[in-house]
Amino acid sequence: MRMYDIIEKKRDGGALTDKEIAFFVNGYVAGDIPDYQASALLMAIYLRGMDQDETLSLTMRMLHSGDVVDLSSLGGVTVDKHSTGGVGDKTSLAVVPLLAAMDPGHVFVAKMSGRGLGHTGGTLDKLESIPGLSTQVERDDFLRIVREHGGAIISQTGNLVPADKLIYALRDVTATVGSIPLIASSIMSKKLASGSDCILLDVKVGSGAFMKTVPQAVELAQTMVTIGRGAGRRVRALVTNMDRPLGRAIGNSLEVIEVARMLQGRGPADLEHECLMLAGELMEMTGRMGAAAARDRARELIENGGAFDKLCEIVRAQGGDPAYLRDTALFEAAPIQHRVLAPCDGYICRIDTEQVGIASAQLGAGRLAKGDAIDYSAGIELLANYGDPVRCGQPVAILHTSREDLLVQALATFNAALTFGTDEPPAEPLLFASVD
Ligand code: URA
Repeated sequence: MRMYDIIEKKRDGGALTDKEIAFFVNGYVAGDIPDYQASALLMAIYLRGMDQDETLSLTMRMLHSGDVVDLSSLGGVTVDKHSTGGVGDKTSLAVVPLLAAMDPGHVFVAKMSGRGLGHTGGTLDKLESIPGLSTQVERDDFLRIVREHGGAIISQTGNLVPADKLIYALRDVTATVGSIPLIASSIMSKKLASGSDCILLDVKVGSGAFMKTVPQAVELAQTMVTIGRGAGRRVRALVTNMDRPLGRAIGNSLEVIEVARMLQGRGPADLEHECLMLAGELMEMTGRMGAAAARDRARELIENGGAFDKLCEIVRAQGGDPAYLRDTALFEAAPIQHRVLAPCDGYICRIDTEQVGIASAQLGAGRLAKGDAIDYSAGIELLANYGDPVRCGQPVAILHTSREDLLVQALATFNAALTFGTDEPPAEPLLFASVD
């Protein structure tokens, strides 16, 4: 078999066989296929697409390029959730303790998360803003924490889907990220390798997401659900709104503080609503509780402090200091806090959410390149969100940063991301579609 022929076949719109896909994935991981040929194939896939069989083959070949986690020793049902990436999306930090507290000894959340890059935040960076907390946990310790506490969130271990690490890095520099079969195989190979029985996918759509339109997002959701089912897992996807940041906090410790407040019943309504929805769906997938009953139970756990205590317990088990969650004033605040004022009376009628994420990264909260250091205290506190009425001169946001020199560019980016108008914009749903 020759890589040249595989590229030519896909370039001309042909469907690749499982053997051809295996030849590419195994050869690329082994270093036998050079970047220029892999790039050419990725661009051909980007332009010509892949059918369901090809996408499933690509996913399974990537999945088996490295280790696969075995969670069977935990006993009960294992669950995982994954967001395709957004701005202010801190739901994992709340959904993991909610699920872990809901049905102890029967439902376990063994979650492996990623870091933020570009405009999207990463769960690991947010968690690591809690002093002492480690996300680099050995496999046996991970299983022990999950068994004892019902959940944990750690970094993907060394040899999990090495094919994705290599292919994603190449896609990132060859303008081939935005392809449904490539995104679906990248996400699903990692989710399947992480070993959970039930996988809930939160597919974000809108100005702050990879998928800009609902039909595109539904197609991605359907592709991933079909892959999951083909691999014998219970998979469901929700298509949710990312045309506005979720909640009011963007940035690492700011988002942890918001979650701590939400789990004590003091969180923004949109964030609480989405977390209850995700928790309800996941519990229903386990077969141990209906979605409505699970949402009621989650609400109860917020009201009686059970969910917040569980978050503190998991944080302590991973070496973090839960005192920071109980008294969030302990988090180091950014020395510069700049208020942004509304330029006129009216409403916030559009938010370019990707640009808000970029402004947060420019303040120091994110990485503009892999390996950049993060300022955990940096970010954006929204005092008003999409659809809110504002008066001229009213503060609509506070930009947090440790460096005066970063503020000018971030402020320009943030200001350009908000559109004010005199008419109240239409209310937008949080949920667009459910796919299973
Ligand atoms: N997230 C991933 O893990 N992979 C993609 O291709 C896109 C988003």
